[in-house]
Amino acid sequence: MEAPIKAPTPGAGGCGTAWWQSGTVYQIYPRSFQDTDGDGVGDLRGITARLDYLAWLGVDAVWISPFYRSPMADFGYDVADYCAVDPLFGTLADFDALISEAHRRKLKVILDFVPNHSSIAHPWFTESRASRMSAKRDWYIWRDPGPDGGPPNNWLSNFGGPAWTRDEATGQYYYHAFLPEQPDLNWRNPEVRAAMHDALRFWLARGVDGFRVDVIWHLIKDEGFRDNPQNPDFQPHQAGINRFHQVYSCDRPEVLDIIAGMRAVLRAYGERVLIGEIYLPIERLVTYYGPGLTGADLPFNFQLIQTPWRAEAVAALVAEYEAALPEGGWPNWVLGNHDQPRIAARVGEAQARIAAMLLLTLRGTPTLYYGDEIGLGHVPVPPERAQDPWGRNEPGHGRDPERTPMQWEDAPNAGFTAGTPWLPLTGDANRRNVDELRDDSRSILTLYRRLLSLRRDHSALSVGAWRGLALPPDLAAEVFAYERIADGETLRIVLNFSNQEWSVPLDEGGPWQILLSTHSGRAGDRVERQLRLEPDEGVILGPPGR
Ligand code: NOJ
Repeated sequence: MEAPIKAPTPGAGGCGTAWWQSGTVYQIYPRSFQDTDGDGVGDLRGITARLDYLAWLGVDAVWISPFYRSPMADFGYDVADYCAVDPLFGTLADFDALISEAHRRKLKVILDFVPNHSSIAHPWFTESRASRMSAKRDWYIWRDPGPDGGPPNNWLSNFGGPAWTRDEATGQYYYHAFLPEQPDLNWRNPEVRAAMHDALRFWLARGVDGFRVDVIWHLIKDEGFRDNPQNPDFQPHQAGINRFHQVYSCDRPEVLDIIAGMRAVLRAYGERVLIGEIYLPIERLVTYYGPGLTGADLPFNFQLIQTPWRAEAVAALVAEYEAALPEGGWPNWVLGNHDQPRIAARVGEAQARIAAMLLLTLRGTPTLYYGDEIGLGHVPVPPERAQDPWGRNEPGHGRDPERTPMQWEDAPNAGFTAGTPWLPLTGDANRRNVDELRDDSRSILTLYRRLLSLRRDHSALSVGAWRGLALPPDLAAEVFAYERIADGETLRIVLNFSNQEWSVPLDEGGPWQILLSTHSGRAGDRVERQLRLEPDEGVILGPPGR
């Protein structure tokens, strides 16, 4: 049974495709990309210094995790001034230089917007907490104690413990979905909305091409603050937040209005993209495109991170997601980010190459995570060097291993810093670095670069339709095959998720030529009716003679 063909969607302007549909996004965690001042933490000048690398790699846009002024309780996801650069990362002038240098290289720049909560150190919160009569009291979420004098309801923090902290000054509790240092803003208050829209405009006017909006599904909470229901399937190894289903603390219907409001602000500046961070099952995720596509342009699709790494499971996921998308909704795919274990750590080095080919050949905007292109894996972080507050609150849940520095060359600290890096590097950093891998035809970096280049050269890959291919059951358990189709060209992608060799029948559409294999040396080979796949091999087939 072949899945139906899902056709490309016209771009935002109604004709052609928008840059954020045909392009690829590369996430930079600024603390870990490139340090230029020797403090062991990356900075904006470091990003600018590496733009040539990103242009060489062949990505189209960078999304930079937060660099706003912040006490860094959650490494920048606790913002104390939405319109300022933290001195740790540089200055506004450094940012202006970064964006103009990026644009000169035709790279778009996407910022991380953190509207759900500010830092406890934000002047708005200082004013809000000062008294119950404060003009900004209602900018945050204050409630009286519950009947027993404890927290107002059973909502928990995503980082462990209750989500409510009692403030001695006024005897009320404030709500924080994350750390107590990250009080949630009250998006039901129009003054908050207006202030946050102004922050968006501040950066839009400086030329940013869009925003990735942090925990966008959290912005509105239940008006009645009802208790969340117990999760009967909770397992003790899970983070505490899973004790309850988050029914009332997030994913409320009113959030779509809030997102539409942000989207309207962006649209006034032209073709800017709004990406929403959303961890929800597919049927809920797709509602974030909004009624009439007034919601997020790209509700982040983390399903590849959450689905077991098996051919059948991934094939079923892709078909389910494609089928669930609303008319005109543009798909997207993500393999990793600063909150999730590295893909190479999760599936192993050999399958990380399959993952790269999958990410860059599925229909929809791919987001790459810095370092995945050199195969960074799990970097053990000794307890005395642990940084992530979540890991300190709930041991085992720390995110340090996926945030380690980028590795550039065979030099002290792999060229990341002249100082002491804030997190350790991999043990093989003298070999696993950009300089060592860039001229190696078999390296994962070369594979990423070739995939990105092929994607640019073939509209079938960037914006073409997608069709799943049926395989005999024994093969389907281990191999995932699909086609991408555009402008009269059909490409076929065949991915071996197993470490055995397989022979795959190519019953129609041939003969074919291998355009790219995860295993070097096969490109250009002609294939007639049977495709032999090496263990852990993926190939992209195209018409012969190109
Ligand atoms: C999601 C971010 O990706 C994560 O790093 C952060 O800790 C939380 N939001 C809280 O802002």
